[in-house]
Parts: sequence; structure tokens; C-alpha cells
Amino acid sequence: MNILIFGGAGFVGRHYSEYFLKKNDYVKVIDNIAPLSGGIHPKKWRLFNPYKFNKKFKFLNQDCRKFFRVRLEKKYDLVINLAAIVGGREVIENNPLAVAEDLEIDTAFWRWAVKNKKKIRHVITYSSSAAYPVHLQTKKNFRLLKEQDIDFSKDNLGKPDLSYGWAKLNNEYLASIAFKKHGIKNTIFRPFSGYGSDQDLNYPFPSIVLRAINHKSKKKFIVWGSGYQMRDFIHIKDVIRGSLLIARKIKNGKAINLSSGKLLSFISLSKKILKILGKKNIKVNGNSNKPEGVYARGGSTFLQKKYGFVPKISIDQGIKWAIQYFDNKQ
Ligand SMILES: NC(=O)c1ccc[n+]([C@@H]2O[C@H](COP(=O)([O-])OP(=O)(O)OC[C@H]3O[C@@H](n4cnc5c(N)ncnc54)[C@H](O)[C@@H]3O)[C@@H](O)[C@H]2O)c1
Repeated sequence: MNILIFGGAGFVGRHYSEYFLKKNDYVKVIDNIAPLSGGIHPKKWRLFNPYKFNKKFKFLNQDCRKFFRVRLEKKYDLVINLAAIVGGREVIENNPLAVAEDLEIDTAFWRWAVKNKKKIRHVITYSSSAAYPVHLQTKKNFRLLKEQDIDFSKDNLGKPDLSYGWAKLNNEYLASIAFKKHGIKNTIFRPFSGYGSDQDLNYPFPSIVLRAINHKSKKKFIVWGSGYQMRDFIHIKDVIRGSLLIARKIKNGKAINLSSGKLLSFISLSKKILKILGKKNIKVNGNSNKPEGVYARGGSTFLQKKYGFVPKISIDQGIKWAIQYFDNKQ
């Protein structure tokens, strides 16, 4: 298969690249290693060296919007658009206009996809759980979020999470139009907290693991926000496997969750990590000066299960891999 990945040097893109190259597919990555993003030049990927696959891997260090000005020369079996400015909670809250660049990127992407649709068999793009209405994620009112909580065909839209959530809603809307009006087969995902060892340290999972490893004293261990905020963690390997499994079955631009259905607070996550590290009797507290985002964000797994996907990697396993990763790095 020929695969084209925009934003493929980022966290999710590195894992797709590894997956496809190991299957003997051809992968071309377009990425400008944008500031504020988790992009890493492929020469510096730590978990896996894509250049080992010689001609099967190509990297173009370019803003995808420049690439979108030209017509595709060859056919692609799968085009994945991951190019985005996300940057973790601090960027989402403190730099919303930088994140709003995603509106431009996704809009340019879909216009390009329409012009090149004869050369593209299938598109995968990423929305986010941040597209869900925030009023369903408060301390007083939260539950697992269901795909139908966002429905463009009914009056079912709530306020999403800041400019990041708006950009993701825009992407979902355009994905549905791309299918309905232009026949572009596409699948769009709403991942919850995708995590993994080589994720940018602006994300909670790797940053908490690294701090816990370096936490030598019996001093309090501090996490962002109240520490009681809860997220639904899904390992990046499950994200990749689940997305490709579901993408075989859904191609009509309807968004699907990628989630574990389990809510875990930052305090509980930190306690698990400290326990696995054998660090006992350490108090974990929140630091309210740092942003915490919504109170509880977890995703229903009903539809994923219906399409045959159940995440396999436990959070304990993910923590052990991350500890090994940082131990080898230090
Ligand atoms: N990681 C998760 O758990 C998660 C959860 C929900 C949604 N998502 C979505 O998945 C996608 C990928 O996320 P990620 O975690 O890999 O983020 P990331 O920051 O690691 O990767 C994004 C990549 O896009 C690249 N990029 C940004 N602007 C670009 C441009 N103009 N041209 C070309 N490349 C550009 C960056 O350089 C970076 O390599 C994003 O759309 C994100 O919103 C991820």
C-alpha cells in the first residue's frame, strides 16, 4: 500500500509510520516540525528508525498547506491527516489562536482532497474528544461521551473545548461534507487521552512518569489542576490498531471514539506510577495554578465494540513500557 501522512512526524504519525513500514508498505510523511507541536524530525525518532526501510520511507520537511497547492502525481491507498497544533493543555488554554491554525490546515486539507479525489482511495483524519460539549464533562454532570452527543443532522451540538474543540468540530463537519457531496471515503476519529512513551513532555502521561522516576525524596508529588480531573487513557498502539480496524468498516465520514471507557484521575494515575516504581507513602496533591481542563472526559466504547475493537493494553503495561523507555534514555 502507498500511504501519505500529513503531520506524520508527530506522536500519532510516528506510530502509524512504524506500523505500515513494518508491514512492508510505502510511507510518505509531510511535516514541517511545527513549533508548539510534538513533531520530531525522523532522524531523531527514538523508538524506531524509519530510514532503515530505505526507499519505502520518504520525508518532506514542508508545511502541508504548501503541498496542498499542487496536484497529486500518484495514487495513494490511504491518506492520513494528523497535521495540527495541539501542544498539550497549556497551549490549548493559553494560546488558543495558535491552535486555531488547525481550522486553516483542515479546511485546506479537505479542499485539496476534493481536487485530488481520483487519486485517493481512503482518508483518515483525527478529530478529538475535545469536540464534545463541555457541559457533559463537569463535576456535577458527567458521563461517558457517546458519538451521538455530536450530531450535525439534528440540533445536537454543544460548546466544545476552546479553539481546539471548535477546529475539531469544523474538521468533522467538513469530513461529512467530503463524503456526502464529493464521495470521498473517509473515517474520522475522536481519540480520548492517547498516550505512550515517546509522547511530547507537554502531555500529562509522559511528564508524570518522568517526574515520578526523578522523584527521590518523600516530598509531596504534585500534579496539575486539582488532581481529581479524570481522563480516559488509551495506549497509542491501541489507537493505531483500533483506527485501522474500524476504518475498514466505516468510510462515510462519521466520527468514532477511540477510548477505553475507564476514567482515571491524575492523582490515581500518579499513585499507580509511583507504586510501580516501588515508591511508597508519597502524598500526591494538585497544583491549582496549572490548568486542569474539564473535570471528566471519558468515551463510550459501545460503537467501537460493535465494530470489533476493544483496547488491549492496560494502563499498568503502558506505565511499565514508559518507565523502561525513560530508564534507557537517561
Ligand atoms: N495524541 C492524542 O491522544 C490525540 C487525542 C485527540 C486527538 N488527537 C489528534 O491527532 C492528531 C495528531 O496528534 P499528535 O498527538 O500526533 O500531535 P503532535 O503535535 O505530536 O503531531 C502533530 C504534527 O503535525 C505537524 N504539523 C503541524 N502543523 C503542520 C503543518 N502546517 N504542516 C505539516 N505538518 C504540521 C507537527 O509538526 C507535528 O509533527 C492531531 O490532529 C490531534 O489533534 C490526538
